[in-house]
Amino acid sequence: MRPVLCRVGAIAAVLLVGGILTGVAAAKEARLPNLAKKEIVIKRGMSEEAAKCVECHARKTPGIIESWKKGKMAHAGITCYDCHVVDKSSPMASQCEGTRGTDTYISPMVSSKTCARCHPAEVDQFLKSGHARLAGAPVIEKEKFQKLMYYHEGAAFMGNKIGSPSNRAPRASGCQMCHGTKVELGPDNKPIKETWPGGVGTRYPDGSIGNCTVCHTRHQFSVAEARKPEACASCHLGPDHPDMEIYLESKHGQLYLTQGDEWKWDSAPDAWQPGDYTAPTCATCHMSGIGDLNTTHNVNERLKWDLVHPRSEIRSGERGDGEKGAVLMRKVCTNCHGPTQIDAQVKTLDNVVALYNQYYDKATVMLNDLKAKGLLKKDPWRDGFQELYYFLWHHTGRRARQGAAMNGPDYAHWHGFFQMQQVIKDMEDLYNYRIKNNKIESPSHVMSTAPD
Ligand code: HEC
Ligand code: HEC
Ligand code: HEC
Ligand code: HEC
Ligand code: HEC
Ligand code: HEC
Ligand code: HEC
Ligand code: HEC
Repeated sequence: MRPVLCRVGAIAAVLLVGGILTGVAAAKEARLPNLAKKEIVIKRGMSEEAAKCVECHARKTPGIIESWKKGKMAHAGITCYDCHVVDKSSPMASQCEGTRGTDTYISPMVSSKTCARCHPAEVDQFLKSGHARLAGAPVIEKEKFQKLMYYHEGAAFMGNKIGSPSNRAPRASGCQMCHGTKVELGPDNKPIKETWPGGVGTRYPDGSIGNCTVCHTRHQFSVAEARKPEACASCHLGPDHPDMEIYLESKHGQLYLTQGDEWKWDSAPDAWQPGDYTAPTCATCHMSGIGDLNTTHNVNERLKWDLVHPRSEIRSGERGDGEKGAVLMRKVCTNCHGPTQIDAQVKTLDNVVALYNQYYDKATVMLNDLKAKGLLKKDPWRDGFQELYYFLWHHTGRRARQGAAMNGPDYAHWHGFFQMQQVIKDMEDLYNYRIKNNKIESPSHVMSTAPD
């Protein structure tokens, strides 16, 4: 729950800022700014310096001001100055046209650390979630994935120089826009090598982690937006984790698509409850307060299984506490379902996980055997068996598991188990051939497009 005092403060600020916003808008309409009038109006609600940022940017970057004006924070008097001004000693400090020659330093980069000044609880929860350090790790820390990005996708194997702009392109246009990036700076303290902007787990030069705008798009920073499934869909989609597609084909998604226009999306934080909506969205199940549960920015909190990695286990350690997660997720469902249906759904997922793990274990036994006998190619992307192994867990297997978790029958079956069954049979045939002939078939009969 937010402290009542904060709310009252915000309301008082709205009264003041109402005038300011009209002042800025009026100046824009007139095109030739009426400086005398505008200054008087603006000085009432924010510092003179902050007013200058708004005033000039209303002319230079009107799109930013227009979206900022629509947000609750603008109405509470939170301006460019609060989020973009940094200490001169910050590694990210630079100056823009409007601050050059003054003592004011700014940065276009704004991490969760800035938000933590006013929203410490949300940032604290976020930092404990998979959306923070863990999200950036594959792209930034793991050699295996860097090899995938730079060597294979970046065509180093065809002679493209590692680190060249075109070699970096797959990372910059793909992984880092979802997972995040490690921002690198040039001599003017501005980001270089397309390492900014980045996705949810972006790591900033001052050591801070996290880009809150992935769900609360700048510069409106809306709660209503984050409650809609589209806020998650920029990342949670596609052949390897089609959460958005699964949701839209589920009964819950059907209700969202047919009735969502009539739902109330902008209830106060923690006060968004059944009645405002008739079926849950991603946020309802994974984040929002509902019934006894408070809102959390730790998306791992309500999860039991790990449904993303090669073998599914109950979550533990840095991935969360699966036993506790199961209890919390159940509390979400009890707002709208009786125990019989919830039991059926929970059991189905447990059974799906058990079956999936059987497939995965069987494939792994074959893989290890081929490895021991020297019957795997060095480059897994030219080896049909290893390609299929990857598709088994990373594409078809995730679709089966996540489809079952969130009631998407087409993904659980046709894009999931049905394909796993085909993939493993092809793997068996390749395995048998290699063992019998003591050699790798050539060329690979697997074309690199995944089963879909
Ligand atoms: C509540 C905090 C907040 C406020 C208020 C705010 N910004 Fe931002 N701004 C951000 C965040 C967060 C980003 C994204 C930074 C990142 O990805 O590292 C951003 C990015 C930017 C960028 C760089 C991205 C781009 O589109 O070029 C500019 C320019 C910018 N803001 C200008 C402004 C101006 C002008 C104002 C005043 C109207 C303002 N901001 C108010 C938080 C804020
Ligand atoms: C007199 C006009 C003017 C004023 C005042 C002004 N700016 Fe700017 N600002 C600009 C222009 C023009 C640009 C784009 C060119 C540049 O970066 O110099 C810019 C760029 C920016 C950027 C993006 C920098 C980047 O690298 O993309 C941010 C962030 C920003 N300003 C924030 C602020 C803040 C915060 C204030 C108030 C402390 C402020 N500005 C005051 C005109 C102004
Ligand atoms: C200087 C303090 C301050 C900073 C810094 C700040 N906020 Fe806020 N924020 C507020 C206040 C005050 C409100 C409450 C406004 C209201 O409810 O009227 C708020 C409300 C919000 C809301 C709820 C909006 C809604 O639609 O109800 C979101 C989301 C939010 N902030 C995100 C952020 C993010 C993300 C950052 C960092 C990029 C940030 N804030 C930085 C003070 C701040
Ligand atoms: C900018 C991209 C992006 C957006 C938007 C996004 N996510 Fe994620 N999410 C990720 C990434 C990347 C991971 C994988 C984290 C990891 O590596 O462990 C993830 C992981 C998760 C996980 C599993 C956590 C774990 O550690 O295994 C859940 C649950 C989740 N997200 C829910 C959501 C929900 C709900 C929304 C919308 C309200 C959302 N996400 C929006 C990128 C995003
Ligand atoms: C469209 C957005 C998107 C792109 C592009 C993307 N990912 Fe992901 N990735 C996600 C999401 C979302 C998850 C979490 C899915 C889940 O929890 O089921 C994820 C999960 C992962 C995981 C498992 C979680 C973990 O941290 O161990 C790894 C590893 C990974 N991605 C690596 C990459 C790499 C490397 C690239 C680029 C070569 C990439 N991803 C491209 C969105 C994306
Ligand atoms: C994965 C998506 C996602 C990300 C990332 C995210 N938020 Fe939120 N945020 C939400 C959702 C959903 C709500 C609405 C919860 C509800 O229904 O009340 C929310 C609500 C809020 C609120 C309103 C008060 C509250 O706690 O409900 C604030 C403030 C806020 N977020 C700040 C932040 C900050 C700061 C960050 C970055 C650390 C951030 N958010 C990152 C999804 C996200
Ligand atoms: C009816 C509630 C509900 C809705 C709606 C929902 N989910 Fe889920 N989600 C679940 C459950 C239950 C699980 C599996 C939890 C467990 O046992 O681990 C899950 C699992 C996940 C996972 C896999 C985490 C992992 O283990 O790798 C991701 C990612 C995810 N959901 C994201 C989303 C996104 C994005 C949306 C919206 C497009 C969404 N969810 C909608 C309930 C829901
Ligand atoms: C806000 C209310 C709400 C919440 C919360 C909710 N559901 Fe539902 N759910 C519904 C409604 C309404 C339907 C449509 C029932 C129908 O088919 O007539 C539905 C349908 C379903 C279905 C499809 C089968 C059926 O009854 O048609 C499953 C499975 C399901 N929910 C499981 C869950 C699980 C598991 C959770 C918790 C993780 C959950 N739901 C949370 C409202 C909710």
